[in-house]
Amino acid sequence: MATRSLQRELLAWLVVPLTAVVSFNVWTTYKNAEETANLITDRTLLASARVIAENIRENDGVLEAPIPPAALEMFASDQPDRVVYRVTTPRGQVIAGYPDVIAPPGQPADLNPVYFETTFRDQPVHAVAIAQPMVSKQNPGNAMVAVGQTLRGHDKLMTGLWLKALRDQVLLVAAAGLLGVFGLRRGLAPILRLRNDVMERDPAELKPFAADTVQSELRPLVEALNEGFNRIQRQMATQRRFVANAAHQLRTPLALLKTQVSVGLRERDIGTKDEILAAVDMSVDGMARLSNQLLSLARAEQGSSSLMKSSVDFSAVARDALEGLAQAALSRNIDLGFESEGDDLIVWGHPTLLRELVVNVVDNALRYTPQGGSVTARIGRDASWIVLQVEDTGPGIAEGDKEKVFERFYRGSEPDSEGTGLGLAIVREIVSSHDGEIALANRKPLPGLSAQAKLPAYQAAQA
Ligand SMILES: Nc1ncnc2c1ncn2[C@@H]1O[C@H](COP(=O)(O)OP(=O)(O)O)[C@@H](O)[C@H]1O
Ligand SMILES: [Mg+2]
Repeated sequence: MATRSLQRELLAWLVVPLTAVVSFNVWTTYKNAEETANLITDRTLLASARVIAENIRENDGVLEAPIPPAALEMFASDQPDRVVYRVTTPRGQVIAGYPDVIAPPGQPADLNPVYFETTFRDQPVHAVAIAQPMVSKQNPGNAMVAVGQTLRGHDKLMTGLWLKALRDQVLLVAAAGLLGVFGLRRGLAPILRLRNDVMERDPAELKPFAADTVQSELRPLVEALNEGFNRIQRQMATQRRFVANAAHQLRTPLALLKTQVSVGLRERDIGTKDEILAAVDMSVDGMARLSNQLLSLARAEQGSSSLMKSSVDFSAVARDALEGLAQAALSRNIDLGFESEGDDLIVWGHPTLLRELVVNVVDNALRYTPQGGSVTARIGRDASWIVLQVEDTGPGIAEGDKEKVFERFYRGSEPDSEGTGLGLAIVREIVSSHDGEIALANRKPLPGLSAQAKLPAYQAAQA
């Protein structure tokens, strides 16, 4: 697609309709000028013909038509126009003027003037013919007077009229165009400045743009831009913190590992060497867990839109996850139960992430519940939600920690030695990328924690 220019678009919207309007205007102006010039010519011709007609008289039974000077003077103009006339008796005899010119197309039937076009010596002539009734015994009927004029004066008058109007119109369009361009330049200047600001900006510098230098209509745009930058900035800060934390978290076990290995290398006793190797093995397990959790978090963080989602039987996913944790429950002597209410507990989501969600919540319940306790996972439906509830008989979470436990690397006061502090952060990311909710509550009156994850139930229409 061709790039669109606001300036060009606005100008086009201004100039194209304006040109159409002006063209129409010029056309009507031309028509008006023609009409006016015709009217003036017609009036002069008619007045002249009337003066001639009034001067027709009868002398001894013979009609005469002396032409009074006034009849021709009214045509006085700076144009060398020819005025021609002809007077005929009721019997058709020419008594004044040129017999060979301006023959009207017919006799005027009544007393109304008849206007017509003709030629005189190859020049176009506009003419009028009127009938003049004769009160006479010898010459009864209508005498006829015809007066014509070549069209130079008429054309000049017309041109003068419409050229002046045309000049005014052109001036008006030019002024509108110039003002339009000027106004656009001025109006667009803040946007262009903003564009330059955005382009010249150092990527690391995300300070807000000044919203008060642009017009009020654009202010929301700048504010949205600032808000967007703000979010990016916050996200960048979070990322930086995360990377720093992750590096720190990896460095500590690595240092431990290094110590264990160097001690092991120095140790001569084979039995002690084995013990140290077992410890190294545990450290490596811990690091593997940490890197897995980091990977999970990175995947969950991708954001909802880039996840490959499908309709998932959440109940089946939860059952599968719990089967994977059965061994851990057994080794801690914890009674792990699973209850599924109903069978169409379908959500729209990413199966691996959903499994991860269940594993992390249940894993916590198993870790923080003392030996001999019980953990129950229940999955059911509540209106348009599919709800996973995991209850344990552990210590619960202190009120002040309820929000903090979702932070990355945050661990409670008596953390399990194998944890990473990432479990609940992962849970929160997964839940939010599935438009769900997660809540922790201490059970009453029993001790223990109840974790509840709600995900929107899948409706077939969603697909
Ligand atoms: N079921 C639970 N009972 C009591 N405390 C819990 C429970 N689940 C999580 N916590 C607390 O929340 C903290 C953060 O949990 P998590 O993010 O999974 O990290 P980790 O388990 O690696 O410490 C834990 O250190 C623990 O103090
Ligand atoms: Mg955990």
